[in-house]
Amino acid sequence: MDSKARFIGAISGVRGGKTTIGAIWLCNRIYQDYQKGVTGDYLIAAPTSKILDQAALPKFKEIFPKDWGEWREQPKSYFQLKWTKKDPDGKDTGEPCRIFVRSLDDPNAIEGMECLAIWADEVGLMKDQAWINFQSRTSITQGPVLMTGTPYSMNWFYRDVYQSWKDGNKDFDVVQWRSMDNPSFREEEYERAKKTMPKVLFDRTYGGQFTRLEGLVYPEFDEDELLVDPFEIPAVGLVFAGLDFGYNNPNAIVYIWEDPKTKIYYVFREFYQNKVLLKDLAASINHHQPSYVLADTQSAQLIAELRRFHGVRQIREADKVKEAGIERIRNLLIEKRLKFFRNRTQNLVEEFKTYHYQAPKADGTSSEKIVDKHNHALDALRYAFSRPLQGLYVNRVKRDFKSILKRRGERLTPSDPLTGY
Ligand SMILES: Nc1ncnc2c1ncn2[C@@H]1O[C@H](COP(=O)(O)OP(=O)(O)O)[C@@H](O)[C@H]1O
Ligand SMILES: [Mg+2]
Repeated sequence: MDSKARFIGAISGVRGGKTTIGAIWLCNRIYQDYQKGVTGDYLIAAPTSKILDQAALPKFKEIFPKDWGEWREQPKSYFQLKWTKKDPDGKDTGEPCRIFVRSLDDPNAIEGMECLAIWADEVGLMKDQAWINFQSRTSITQGPVLMTGTPYSMNWFYRDVYQSWKDGNKDFDVVQWRSMDNPSFREEEYERAKKTMPKVLFDRTYGGQFTRLEGLVYPEFDEDELLVDPFEIPAVGLVFAGLDFGYNNPNAIVYIWEDPKTKIYYVFREFYQNKVLLKDLAASINHHQPSYVLADTQSAQLIAELRRFHGVRQIREADKVKEAGIERIRNLLIEKRLKFFRNRTQNLVEEFKTYHYQAPKADGTSSEKIVDKHNHALDALRYAFSRPLQGLYVNRVKRDFKSILKRRGERLTPSDPLTGY
């Protein structure tokens, strides 16, 4: 609120109060301008119409004093203020001042405006072009730009705003705080997330700090602790599998048993081979009799063929949302609830040790993309856990009804609210 800098970053963890402070800040700016007799337009921007409609706009409507003007949907959303613009000689133009409200789904949404101040919410999700536009929309007025946001990734917000401030550039100011610093944020949630989330992600999401995802995708994978000597899989508990199709690349299937007492998942077997036929995959699956197999959705045709011509009726399409899937596996590793049979899952273990993010670029930004190699068994594993389906498909298995029914009876509801497992 007190910053005199032209570009201000207000960076906090989720639900830290950014949107609230953004709305208050803009009203405060408008009031100051009004008192000084400065007239003109303003802008509220959000990365998507959803964020705009669900956060920035309702919050602003709540804070905006009713006697300043009114909200208009047509022709394009804006607040019309009760006062009018003056030309450079101080003569009234009769043209009302406005607060434009725009979602930047369309990068040209704010072309041609000239703004006395801009408030941009959740800027971490905006493209580089947004930042260029904010500067040009205020280049004549030299008005301030408040950027509120959670640090999502190492993008322009990090490079051009945060780093410029760090480097001592006087045009920039950054204020950072944690979710917990908001008095209405619940401490239990903070503590729960701290316990269950990887540290880099926690510091980013709840700490409001820029952290870089780099190095290994699964740094929690600890061979000493997570590899166990093979044992015979008991008839109780759930057996399920994940499948990643390949041809020149390996086809990978991982088989998992859930210990119903400890809720630990044991990856007890993998199938890992290139240039095999569907019937070989089917033979492996039919041998291990998983209650369900979740497979790569890109290969819908192969899934259909396995189901119809090879008797693999329990095969289903996986949910391929990658980030969430990786988080789920990481959480299971952190909780030490995912273990691996020694010498039966070598390729999977090898992939855990090599799967990594692309190195950051020289300017400190990073795409945070994962190097798309060494990930066949890992993808299969991610698919296996991609839906909290325990037991949903158990009735489709051909043989061994007794143990299946028994397993179904012991099926448990998801125990962890974050992973669903
Ligand atoms: N200073 C504050 N004191 C108490 N509650 C606050 C404060 N700032 C915001 N809140 C409340 O906290 C919740 C999250 O605020 P919001 O501005 O939506 O956070 P963010 O945009 O960071 O996710 C809202 O219910 C809001 O009313
Ligand atoms: Mg918000």
